Amino acid sequence: MRASRAIRVPRVCAHFAITADGKISTKNLTPSRFTSPSDKSRLHLIRAANDAILAGRGTVEADTMSMGLSRLDLREERVRQGLPPEPLRVVISNEGCFQTSSKIFSYTSSPLVVLSTIRMPQDVRDAIAPHCDLILFDAPTVPLRKALAMLRRDYAVKRLVCEGGGQLLRALAVEDLLDEIHLTIAPVIFGGSAAPSLTGLPGVLLREPRFFRLANFAVSEGECALHYIRQRREG
Ligand SMILES: NC(=O)c1ccc[n+]([C@@H]2O[C@H](COP(=O)([O-])OP(=O)(O)OC[C@H]3O[C@@H](n4cnc5c(N)ncnc54)[C@H](OP(=O)(O)O)[C@@H]3O)[C@@H](O)[C@H]2O)c1
Repeated sequence: MRASRAIRVPRVCAHFAITADGKISTKNLTPSRFTSPSDKSRLHLIRAANDAILAGRGTVEADTMSMGLSRLDLREERVRQGLPPEPLRVVISNEGCFQTSSKIFSYTSSPLVVLSTIRMPQDVRDAIAPHCDLILFDAPTVPLRKALAMLRRDYAVKRLVCEGGGQLLRALAVEDLLDEIHLTIAPVIFGGSAAPSLTGLPGVLLREPRFFRLANFAVSEGECALHYIRQRREG
């Protein structure tokens, strides 16, 4: 086993939609609603197949997410498999300055874990603590690998889907924690260097490229849904 996997972490996949010019959003970080109903349906299938859904504060607030699983058939299938009806919801933030009125805190059909640091202001802690398991790391930033290992150990999360955004996906790639990517390419272009890509706004290169192999693809409603699996190269 590779040393980096010595701490057991969940298998992590990501589910994103991108434009034909590789953007996940506009420069104003407007909500990602540029794909078809088929893509939305795929999002729910992928949610249902995972033990937890993970998103960054930016995405949760920009997209007013509840991170729930609304499809009754998928909820019932999970219960038939001995699982909770909906996956665990996990939100991450270093600073912890959440909008406490966010939908994520009023949705009650599945448990919520908030991963943050002791930088979170006390008034935010007081407001959100009744609605979630609040886990604050004594560090300036959330130690991602440790946090994922904790999810596996304490919440039995073996498979997790990251639904964004770019900053979080980049952090997962930096730590080499990304095992799969589900990517829907939509027939639209946004343009602009200020619009984020899969790994956020342009920044420094990853220390090493992360290679994937294309495991599957499907075309529907003018979009191409790709499924990539991480290909680790030893030596
Ligand atoms: N097309 C798509 O499939 C798709 C998917 C998701 C999102 N989006 C779009 O992307 C935009 C949001 O992008 P974004 O880059 O701002 O999203 P993001 O990664 O969700 O949000 C960034 C914030 O999340 C927190 N965060 C991210 N990574 C973290 C880490 N490793 N540890 C601790 N906290 C972390 C930080 O919060 P603090 O600042 O509080 O520390 C950070 O400022 C929105 O427009 C959204 O619609 C598109």
